[in-house]
Amino acid sequence: MTTSVRGGQLARLLGQWHSLPGRHRSPDYAALAGAVRGLLTDGRLPLGVRLPAERELAEALAVSRTTVTAAYRSLRETGHLTSRRGAGSWTTLPNGHRVASSGLWTPDDDLDMIDMGVAASAAPVELVPAARAAADELPRFLGTAGYHPTGLMELRDAVAAAYTARGVPTSAEQILITSGTQQALDLVLRLSVPAGASVLVESPTYPNALAALAARRARISTHGLDAATGWDGELLLAAMRQTRPRLAYVIPEFQNPTGHLMPAALRERLVAAAHATGTELVADESFVDLPLNGEAMPPPVAVFDRHSRVVTIGGMSKAYWGGLRIGWVRASAPLVQRLAALRVGVDMASPVLEQLVAVHLLQDAPSIVAVRRAQLAARRDTLIEALREHLPEWRFFVPSGGVTLWAELDGPISSALARAAEDVGVRLAPGPRFGLDGTLERFVRLPFSLPPDDLIEAIRRIASVRHDLDRAARPAWRTPAVIT
Ligand SMILES: Cc1ncc(COP(=O)(O)O)c(C=O)c1O
Repeated sequence: MTTSVRGGQLARLLGQWHSLPGRHRSPDYAALAGAVRGLLTDGRLPLGVRLPAERELAEALAVSRTTVTAAYRSLRETGHLTSRRGAGSWTTLPNGHRVASSGLWTPDDDLDMIDMGVAASAAPVELVPAARAAADELPRFLGTAGYHPTGLMELRDAVAAAYTARGVPTSAEQILITSGTQQALDLVLRLSVPAGASVLVESPTYPNALAALAARRARISTHGLDAATGWDGELLLAAMRQTRPRLAYVIPEFQNPTGHLMPAALRERLVAAAHATGTELVADESFVDLPLNGEAMPPPVAVFDRHSRVVTIGGMSKAYWGGLRIGWVRASAPLVQRLAALRVGVDMASPVLEQLVAVHLLQDAPSIVAVRRAQLAARRDTLIEALREHLPEWRFFVPSGGVTLWAELDGPISSALARAAEDVGVRLAPGPRFGLDGTLERFVRLPFSLPPDDLIEAIRRIASVRHDLDRAARPAWRTPAVIT
């Protein structure tokens, strides 16, 4: 299916393209082409999308048609646009690049690229022994067809036991094993969010959750988190009461990207509000295993649930390994059955071998997680030290856990910075990726999951391009930013 973007839509995405930092050095057409490349780079303009006709875009941008013609020519020359007479022009990739699963394109050929776009760690050393032990166990399952839509019972047991240990009594029947937390969210949305239903999310939030919501064509409203202080309880509860959403999606532990931890009292009030407004509350516990300061964790959101309003999702990607693709849903047993019936139409079941590997890793959970926490705490501190040394004007809340730091920049320059950083071999996730409407340009997410040397080098390179961005052409950034 070909999708197309209208002139007005592209103009909105392009925003202040004519006053981007560095802009004074280039003619209009080059600035326009650069801004379109930027949108492609940070994934806000998908690949294979038909761009508006030159005349339509020229009108929408209030520039001459010659400017758009020259910009399209430049995009064709760099391989970002393919045109066919009479059929239009589509966004494409330059040679030698491939499409990542995220829809972002990544250079194949640049081994020097430091990827600060991914907030996940390399596998623990226990992974290979766990995989060997799992392979040894596989013969037990080979006499069956191997489809288990709800998951292997031993893994469901292990996950349920971990919830029970955290203070939420849980039986294996309440657990559905999924292909990662992402599939857990997608399945819950498929079941609970018909097209056009209203959904409340945090802003900023996890971009792939926004993608899953977009696929359901949900009507999204947001609760803005303060970068320094996190959720505003009164505003969050008021947003629940006003929008009465079908579903609310929150990341209570070390929120991605801000790193905030939701206090126990707000958890309790949020569950009560969800009950009062008839809202299904989805708590994404992706980072729950990763407190880094040795502090006691607040109780899981599900502890306060007396009316089956809370669906918890989680997985093994952050404390163990994303490549396992093991996640889960914790819900009532009947809801688990309905989700399992739905998942049969999606991917039937999760792979048996990976689930066995997960069982073995969970047997070693205390030691694996302890090492991971120590590693992440050290890397967080390295990142902070590098930021304070090289980019002292950036401000940030120091997260007490998780994998991400949400830095407030010295101007609304996030997308421009990400484009410039790409040129010096650092991939960044700019602020607007974590919101809905192109705002959050004053922020960038910096994960601290890479090895310390990479983090230091990445910050050094980012600082070098930051100081090259044209300060004179910088928009007036002292006006208060609106975070929706
Ligand atoms: C908040 C959040 N939810 C879900 C996911 C997806 O995790 P998984 O790899 O388990 O699908 C991530 C990964 O970054 C995440 O940060």
